Amino acid sequence: MITPVRRNWSPQELFKALTPVMFTAEPSVVRARWNKLWPELYTEYDARHLKKELSIRNLIASEEAAAFFDAWAADEERHTEGFIQIMELVADGSEKDLWGRLDARSHNFNAINEYLKEEFSVMVMIAFDEMCTCHAYAADKGFYAGLGSNRFVRWLKEVIADEAVHSMNAVNVIRARYSDRIHEVGAILDGLTSGVADESDYGGTFVLDYFGEKYTKEMLANCRGTILRNVAKPLTTAARDGRNHRPS
Ligand SMILES: [Fe+2]
Ligand SMILES: [Fe+2]
Repeated sequence: MITPVRRNWSPQELFKALTPVMFTAEPSVVRARWNKLWPELYTEYDARHLKKELSIRNLIASEEAAAFFDAWAADEERHTEGFIQIMELVADGSEKDLWGRLDARSHNFNAINEYLKEEFSVMVMIAFDEMCTCHAYAADKGFYAGLGSNRFVRWLKEVIADEAVHSMNAVNVIRARYSDRIHEVGAILDGLTSGVADESDYGGTFVLDYFGEKYTKEMLANCRGTILRNVAKPLTTAARDGRNHRPS
């Protein structure tokens, strides 16, 4: 049984010295921050709905995948809570209001039905999606640096590292359980990269939230290439033990 890597850090700890008064700005700036952060918050939050859907459809077959999703869900909760804190600090958000807005959203998994048939395609989809998320956050450095505290840059680094670990943990499940199906990964990724949605097409599925200018065809193609390379590598003993901290 392989063990997923988990990183140890806390947004509460990171932001504890910060208060909203430190980040006051013109209403238009606050609105722009809100518009930027709100989709980041809800796509992180949607992890819990994807996890629920996987369980309703009885898709998690192996103990490796079960361990992956437990570690992953805990991290995505951490990201959700962190974004709520950031929106309170810089975008005039209130925790109660934000949770209310999150809970009011609907979820429709039809767009990813094709990938929700068995554990293998779910793991390929997640490995790819987490790599895309990692790249998308990396493109946001300027935004977080412009908020006025290096704590936000540190936050971004932590989140990027978590997303990279999620991708590698998913790749390790594929390498451990599905080494005989690696040749199928490319075709699944082709399907995932062809249907780039815009925000109105996003059904609250956590994955396939490829809207916004960061998700270029080139970026998606790079992520596809990275996943293909990573699944083709042999699984090391360190990866089996959850010691493979550095995704490549
Ligand atoms: Fe996340
Ligand atoms: Fe993630």
